[in-house]
Parts: sequence; C-alpha cells; structure tokens
Amino acid sequence: MPASPTATPEVCQSEYRFRCINCGDLSDGAGQDFRCAKCSDLLEIVYPKLRETANPAQLKSQWKQRHLSSTAVDLSGVWRFRELLPTLASNFEPITLREGNTPLYKLPQCARIAGVPHLFAKHQGMNPTGSFKDTGMTVAASFARQAGFRWVACASTGNTSASMAAYAARGGLRSLVLVPEGKISWSKLSQALDYGAVTCQLRTDFDGCLKLLQELVRKAPVYQLNSINPFRLEGQKTLALELLEQLDWQPPDHIIVPGGNLGNSSAIGKALLEARDLGLISHLPKLSVIQAEGANALVRTMREALGKKLVSVEAQTRATAIRIGNPASWKKAVHVLEATGGVVEQVSEIEIAQAKAEIGAEGIGCEPASAVTLAGLKKLTKQGFVQPKESVILVLTGNVLKDPDYIMEFHRGDLFQGTQHEKDAAVLQTLRRPPIVLNATLDVVIKTLEQAEKSDPTHT
Ligand code: F0G
Repeated sequence: MPASPTATPEVCQSEYRFRCINCGDLSDGAGQDFRCAKCSDLLEIVYPKLRETANPAQLKSQWKQRHLSSTAVDLSGVWRFRELLPTLASNFEPITLREGNTPLYKLPQCARIAGVPHLFAKHQGMNPTGSFKDTGMTVAASFARQAGFRWVACASTGNTSASMAAYAARGGLRSLVLVPEGKISWSKLSQALDYGAVTCQLRTDFDGCLKLLQELVRKAPVYQLNSINPFRLEGQKTLALELLEQLDWQPPDHIIVPGGNLGNSSAIGKALLEARDLGLISHLPKLSVIQAEGANALVRTMREALGKKLVSVEAQTRATAIRIGNPASWKKAVHVLEATGGVVEQVSEIEIAQAKAEIGAEGIGCEPASAVTLAGLKKLTKQGFVQPKESVILVLTGNVLKDPDYIMEFHRGDLFQGTQHEKDAAVLQTLRRPPIVLNATLDVVIKTLEQAEKSDPTHT
C-alpha cells in the first residue's frame, strides 16, 4: 500500500472554489473521488471574483506578450492563460512539457469534400505525448504533487494513460494505469510503459476500469487523474482560449469535437462561456459533439431522454479512444450543447475510416477518434445545420501515430474484413494506398510510378 500523502487534498485559496454541477454547493476542498459531499454529482471549478477583476483587453495583451517570454510557465500554452486557471501555491512550480501551443491548420481538400470553404483543424495531437490530454494533465498532475500525493492513477482508453505517465514521471510521481485488455492501441500502451507507469490491463472495458478506479481512490491514497478531476478540465479549457487567440478573438461559427467520456467538450464549452462572460468574445460559437454509432451514449441521451438522464450503451468501435458507453461528464456536455446551441450527431465506422483517410491525404493525419469530426461535419452540412458560408473548426484530438494498426489494416483492406461493415467498405477502395513489395530494380519502380500516375492523373 502506498504511503499516505503528507497533505490532504484540500486546497484553500480564495481565487477558486469547487461547485457541484447538480446542487450548486460551493466548497474550498474536494475529496479524492471529486464528487459533491452532499449529492455525489461532479464538481466544477469556479472563480467567484474573476468577473469583477478581469479586464479583457489587458488579459489579451498579457497573453500575447507572453509569447516573447522564455520562462517555463509562459512557454506552456496552458499556463500562459493562468489568470483563468486555479493558482498553485507560490512555492510550487507546475509540471510542464510545453503543452498546448498547437497549430491551427487550413483544410482545403476536406473543405471541398464537406462543402464548407472556411474549414480549419485545431490539432491537439501535436501536444508532447500526442493528444489533447496533456493540456489537462499539466494542471491536474501539478495539483496532485502540491497535495502531497505519491501516486496518481487513471482509467483510460490509452491517451490519458500515456499523458499521465509522462507528467507523473516529469513530476517525480508514480503512476498506476488501468486499461481495458486488448481494447487500446499498442502505440498508446507502449507510451505508458516507456514513461514508467505500473500498467494494468484489466479484463473489462473502459467503463469497468473507471468504476474500479473510483472505488480504489476511496480506499487508497491515490490521486485520480481522469477527467472527473475538475483540474483536468481547467487545463483542457485553454484549447478554446488558444484557438480564439489564433482567430484574433473572432469566434468561429462552429466548433466540432469528438465525444467519449465527454470531458473535453465540457471543458471547451466552459471556456467559451467564461470567455463570453468576461467580454473576451462577443458571442458564442456553436459547439457540437460527434460520437461513433457504436458508442453513442450522448446521442441517445439527447434523443431518447432529452438530456435529462443518461442512456448508457455497450460501446463498440474501432475508434478505440472513444469506446466509452457510460460517459462520466454527460451532464456537463448536455449543458454545453444547450448553452451554445450545438448538436450531437453519430457517424458510422465506414464514415470514420473515410474521414480519417481524407484528413491524412491533406498531410495532417489524426487518430480514428479525431476523424469523427470531419465525418460529423459532412452530416451536419447535409442537414443544413452547418451552412456553406460558416466557419468551422474541427478539434483533432490525437496524433496520426497513435494507432498505426488501424492505418495498416485500412490500406491493406483488412479493417472491416469479417465484420458487419465488410460490404459497405467498398466505398473506401479509392482511398487505399497499400504498400507494394517489389524487386529492387529501377525498371519496376519506374513502372509503378507510371501506373500510379495513370490511375490517378487528377491528383494534385
Ligand atoms: N479523442 C481522443 C483521441 C481521445 O483519446 C478521447 C478520450 C476523446 C477523443 C474523447 O474525449 O473523453 O473528453 O470526450 N480519451 C480518453 C482516454 C477517455 O482515456 O484517453 P472525452
């Protein structure tokens, strides 16, 4: 059993408080399960004095100026926005790997495909461990260390565990990873091993891992770093601030995000609402969430229960990052959809594979879970929810290298072999570029080049 932390997780600072999303109870500290002591619902972090003290023009200029600074906190694309984050005690430095600072790419080819000329990707896969999780982890891991914990832990579909293991290692903490056996990509699993985590492959799914973690943190002095932890969401909020800064504080019409456990959509939505309330932006973009058809708990929650109660599902999708059937932050996500006027939509396995290949063909690349955004956009455009003249940001959550098996199977034509999707996969044929094994002669390579040119003369 690990040693007890030297300090309790209670943090008493005037700048921020914990508020229950259900009963509104305010508190200065949170227990290890990060649930309301009165009603057990999730907590969020609020800044009661921020609105009185914040000057939007000054904040924008301060954040911009920090691009010229070389201190560790200013080089972080998260801590650069520290006025909107919980403050660490003065003798604690954040654990940072220079997270954030991710590019905003134009997507001209995907724009043509989707019929939306103003299309961009905010690529969170360009973070230090290859996913958006790093922006939340820098904050939550720093607070774990400040609270005196020796061990941090998470349940994960792979990216959270990779990120947590890295930040724990950088911060001198030990980490415990709970992942569903056989249901996460090797690439993510190997990251956790490389960063020295104690990695447990549990014979269950993600939802089973998360349930077990919740029990564990009540019994052992282990700090949980899932997105139930509201410090994570505060860090992930900065994606929206950085995006708005990149757009010169002119909000886009739409932001489209993949939905799994629903922490990220909740975090981005929270940032947008705070930015509007502080006068950093004049109006809200619509934030929409896209899920895989086989892991569509939020879709069903909105359609069948009008967002009033969670409809859980048994999750099944090759986009393993979002293979989640019982999303913890569903209430926060429902609030964001309602507050911003966004919608939730689902996309099929074939649509995900197609969109992923199309994003890859732009030279951008992403993991399957991120590609649901483009697949979803195509649907939202057809439905008329997104208009051709409107600007759209797709949040790409994970790096292309996160799931190489998926890519190899796609291009070799094996991805849907023996599955119910096999027949429909014919539409993917033109996007496949399988590797070609040849004798090492110049002749053969030149012939291959000529054949490739003939088969696709319009390729630009
Ligand atoms: N995209 C990627 C690449 C992810 O890894 C995740 C979640 C999501 C989207 C969905 O984000 O859960 O905030 O709605 N991955 C988690 C993990 C669950 O353990 O890595 P969400």
